Amino acid sequence: MLNRAVSTLNIADTRRRVPIGIPRVDEFIQGGLHIGDFVLLEGGIGTGKTIFSTQFVYNATLNEEKAVFASFEEDLPSLKRNMLRFGIDLASLENKGMIRLIDLESLEGAGMGSNIETILNALDEIKAKRLVVDSLTAFLSGAKEKFDYSFLMHLIYKTLKREGITTLMTVSMADKNSLEPTIEEFVADGVFLLENYMKDMELRTRFMIKKLRGTEHSRRYHNVIFTSKGLEILPF
Ligand SMILES: Nc1ncnc2c1ncn2[C@@H]1O[C@H](COP(=O)(O)OP(=O)(O)O)[C@@H](O)[C@H]1O
Ligand SMILES: [Mg+2]
Repeated sequence: MLNRAVSTLNIADTRRRVPIGIPRVDEFIQGGLHIGDFVLLEGGIGTGKTIFSTQFVYNATLNEEKAVFASFEEDLPSLKRNMLRFGIDLASLENKGMIRLIDLESLEGAGMGSNIETILNALDEIKAKRLVVDSLTAFLSGAKEKFDYSFLMHLIYKTLKREGITTLMTVSMADKNSLEPTIEEFVADGVFLLENYMKDMELRTRFMIKKLRGTEHSRRYHNVIFTSKGLEILPF
């Protein structure tokens, strides 16, 4: 577990912003996320949630920041192969100790508590500053015991925020976009949305920032394109 007695994060740190690094997103959020922010990335299948989260981790390493990526949905060999297509060599970053990849699907019989502990240990071991959980949906549904809500709140607020770990968790949504907010949406500092839609017989993807505390952010849909480097968000 994270056991550093005293937090290294002070008020000045919490005002600092860390860029997400995906083309144009930071321009829409005044330069980046606040250190220690907890952001949900919602979207249907194939909207680019895993690619976006991997870019978030990869871009951190470009600034010499370490990151942990906990995958519940894709096995690690597939994830590594798919991301190599975008020039992101996760295996090499792992070997250099810049990232830790955790395959939580394979932790057989592991309950929520044990999964949380695995994540916290990995963060502590490499002194990571960013965390991705892909997806929170699978994380919650895979739990053997009843969802221990206060435990999750403890993880996010007491530990991650105190340690200044900026966190992105994906949420797999069905096509229908419910207007009813979830508990996680209330708790999160930010909620981003990736959405597939049809136009001129073509499947397209768009991006919107639904919420980001303490930030004057874009309030419109932005088109998303998949390039050889991953996702790119367009101005309009
Ligand atoms: N090499 C690639 N080049 C262009 N687009 C790709 C490539 N690989 C995947 N995609 C697009 O990304 C989608 C998958 O993105 P992913 O992040 O895995 O989605 P999600 O995690 O939201 O289900 C695919 O359905 C495809 O449209
Ligand atoms: Mg995915």
